Amino acid sequence: MCGIIGRVGDGNALEPLLTGLENLEYRGYDSAGVAVQNGSGINVEKRSGKVEELKSSIGDPLQGEVGIGHTRWSTHGPPTDANAHPHTDESEDVAVVHNGIIENYTELKERLAANGYEFTSDTDTEVIPHLVQYYLDAGYDSERAFRQAIDELEGSYAVTAMVSGEHVLYAARRGSPLVVGMEDGEYFLASDVPAFLEYTDSVIYLEDGDVVVVDADGVEFTDLEGNPVVREPETVEWDPEQAGKGEYDHFMLKEIHEQPTSLSQAIEGRIDSAGGRIALADFEPGTFADIDSVQFVACGTSYHAALYGSLALNQAGVQSTALLANEYSVSAPPIDDDTLVIAVTQSGETADTLTALRQAAREGADTLTLTNVVGSTAAREADDALFIRAGPEIGVAATKTFSSQAVMLTLLAQRIAADLRGEPPADLEALLPELESMPAAIDDVLAESAATTIARRYRNSEAYFFIGRGLGYPVALEGALKFKEITYEHAEGFASGELKHGPLALVTPETPVFAIFTGEEDEKTLKNAEEAQTRGAPVIAVCPDDHPAVAVADDHLSIPDTEPDLAGLIANVQLQLVSYHAADLLDRPIDKPRNLAKSVTVE
Ligand code: F6R
Repeated sequence: MCGIIGRVGDGNALEPLLTGLENLEYRGYDSAGVAVQNGSGINVEKRSGKVEELKSSIGDPLQGEVGIGHTRWSTHGPPTDANAHPHTDESEDVAVVHNGIIENYTELKERLAANGYEFTSDTDTEVIPHLVQYYLDAGYDSERAFRQAIDELEGSYAVTAMVSGEHVLYAARRGSPLVVGMEDGEYFLASDVPAFLEYTDSVIYLEDGDVVVVDADGVEFTDLEGNPVVREPETVEWDPEQAGKGEYDHFMLKEIHEQPTSLSQAIEGRIDSAGGRIALADFEPGTFADIDSVQFVACGTSYHAALYGSLALNQAGVQSTALLANEYSVSAPPIDDDTLVIAVTQSGETADTLTALRQAAREGADTLTLTNVVGSTAAREADDALFIRAGPEIGVAATKTFSSQAVMLTLLAQRIAADLRGEPPADLEALLPELESMPAAIDDVLAESAATTIARRYRNSEAYFFIGRGLGYPVALEGALKFKEITYEHAEGFASGELKHGPLALVTPETPVFAIFTGEEDEKTLKNAEEAQTRGAPVIAVCPDDHPAVAVADDHLSIPDTEPDLAGLIANVQLQLVSYHAADLLDRPIDKPRNLAKSVTVE
């Protein structure tokens, strides 16, 4: 976790560093800090709390053309001022920011402490500046001292460092993301592109094992031993406006409203309505013809999208399972040469998902990553990658990326089934026009939703339950996750039919039940909803206006009449809005819920 930024160029580094930290805050917001140098030593400002608090605590602006910054999601040690990054050695000759976990830090710390180096924080990171300083003290030049220190680290890291008196940044990557941005003599190093997107869209992604040295003359890419490596520059297609909040109060609301656009982008050129087929140009016809089963690995919201994809595959006659990536190492189903393992990950950097993906590859599976981030680790490590093209998602709670993932997996399920059978599935003809009109259908839902009224009506409830059947089940899980994540209220999602097997004991007049109707055995779901209603629970039906559930339910969130493959995804937009407005009424920090971060790069 955590966001790191570094900058070398003319003029003061402070502003681009702070802008970068604000744009990276979705990665962690427990504490923040910057270090810049101006020829008379390194100046560090850091504190617990958000970047905003850091900004207002910097009295005299720090001056210096070279600097590093960090926004933290705590792993080792609580979010105190002392544990905030950058960390330095005692004399502040070396400053370091780090994302990841140093597994052998206890051993390194003991060794350094025995040599007289004094530690002031509880973090694993602090060993790095001391280790660099140890080698500087031993007479190494800065670059060699940095390389040597990196060589001794075990675990995962993206590290950026600077040494007092130099116009240089040193950086290294293993297991945590790092990207260089370049524009007219100004260079950036960051955990993610939005950090510097308003300065440049020209980037080079570091690979694991890369060490880079950045100064005013350019960027040098090498391996750990110092051998040159070639990394190609790329142009990112996201524009800086996409990464701003625009007219909305929160990124989450903006991203909910972006779904018609992000879905249009996802399906553009990938559906051939006239030809009645899925036109995924990324894959030759027949690519999936030899697959005998599909396993999905993912976490959180991406797991719900993966479950959606897995159910869609099962319904299309393909054997498939969705697995929590963090459980995969202890309970992966058997894999053979004809198993396709699909990692579903918005960020492409989730440690649990990467571990599962690597395990699957080791065991001989074909691997595919479905992600939003083109240069991400998961995209680069899998045999193939498919991009959801949702644009940057800054709100910690995933919204538009879930919809795009689920739609892309619906397409992929149809495509895999077609490759296996040698002909498109029978229901594809009906699905394609509905897919094409889905952005417009979501626009209609966004234009006229009862979500605010419902959020207000049920604001003082004890708990919130979400039920769905078939493809409505992952939507129920996702509805509940979103609700609990941003409101901090108790919410649970259940398969409709499961309610009577235990959870019904929780149902009271104080526990509204959101029932999602997708057109798959709706009469059973309605019965399950009525069972809750009989015990006093208010039922909110998420269904088309002419659905029989409307007459039974206490409240109604309207969705258009569409194919069962897509109905749940439109229902999900209504549930996103309910969660958003419920959290807003409670005045929660919607874009940065407590204890969470967008990209979870630790296991
Ligand atoms: C919840 C949420 C998380 C992520 C999960 C996986 O709103 O966003 O549950 O879905 O941490 O992240 P990615 O998709 O980046 O692998």
